[in-house]
Amino acid sequence: MSSPRIGVVTGAGRGMGLACAQRMAPTVDTIVLVDRDESNLGAVGSELEQHAKVIPMAADVSDPVAMAALAAHVATGSLRAVAHAAGVSPTMASWRDVVRVDLVGTACIIDALSPLVTTGTAAVCFSSMSALLLGLGGVDPAVEAALDDPLSPTFLDDLREAAGPSIEDSGLAYAWAKRGVQRLVRRVAIEWGPRGGRICSISPGIIDTPQGRQESAAQPAMAMMLERTPLGREGTADELAAVVAFLLSDEASFLTGTDVLVDGGVCAALQQP
Ligand SMILES: NC(=O)c1ccc[n+]([C@@H]2O[C@H](COP(=O)([O-])OP(=O)(O)OC[C@H]3O[C@@H](n4cnc5c(N)ncnc54)[C@H](O)[C@@H]3O)[C@@H](O)[C@H]2O)c1
Repeated sequence: MSSPRIGVVTGAGRGMGLACAQRMAPTVDTIVLVDRDESNLGAVGSELEQHAKVIPMAADVSDPVAMAALAAHVATGSLRAVAHAAGVSPTMASWRDVVRVDLVGTACIIDALSPLVTTGTAAVCFSSMSALLLGLGGVDPAVEAALDDPLSPTFLDDLREAAGPSIEDSGLAYAWAKRGVQRLVRRVAIEWGPRGGRICSISPGIIDTPQGRQESAAQPAMAMMLERTPLGREGTADELAAVVAFLLSDEASFLTGTDVLVDGGVCAALQQP
């Protein structure tokens, strides 16, 4: 008998992680649902049980011990798919916690799962269009270099030194962290490719989720961006999950090491002179 196909979704309790879990469950034998807030995991698990064996896991993705426990669950089968949507936004945390969750957390889970990558493994990590907008003004190579060592014990201090005090703005820290996610995905794709594994990032624009709504309520710039969005509306969690499902499917078998921008066209509009 072949080993069970295992899928992992982080941030699975709500928003885009939940939408990814709903699409992934019918494609795997076992699905591990990770979220640091366990309040929604029970209901999500009950919903998905008709499709796959569900393992709910209350864990912080930036905790290496918890990610080792996740890897132990996954090692009971064959790692098929990872949708890593767990993340926090600028209004949710200090700059250090934004970078710790969004970039260090991504490095932690990918590092833990990396030894289990095999032919047919595919992963998608959530970045953001803010990483692309940050790049429009030109980025300091010293900060980019500092982003590339997220598992160093001195990472946050090294990043603060390279970026200067501006990174203490959570909004800027978020953009840098998400840029770090895109860079990490490119490095990891090179490592996983010879083993038959793929990894991409996805950069959502303004999406109607609890996080998206919180940012829109707090940041006036979001209304301006929505106004400039060619499709004239926010995206839905399921529209993003549909793209993730494609990236994780065999239909995307030659796609790795790249970022996919899913923003209703707003970055294209903002780049017009
Ligand atoms: N909503 C948007 O407009 C938007 C835009 C660009 C990028 N993103 C990114 O997309 C991803 C999903 O966003 P969303 O809007 O669905 O967010 P959300 O806040 O609605 O849901 C995120 C989920 O992740 C969980 N989570 C947060 N930190 C965690 C941690 N350290 N460990 C485990 N679980 C954790 C939360 O408990 C929550 O259930 C995030 O990485 C976010 O930064 C969102």
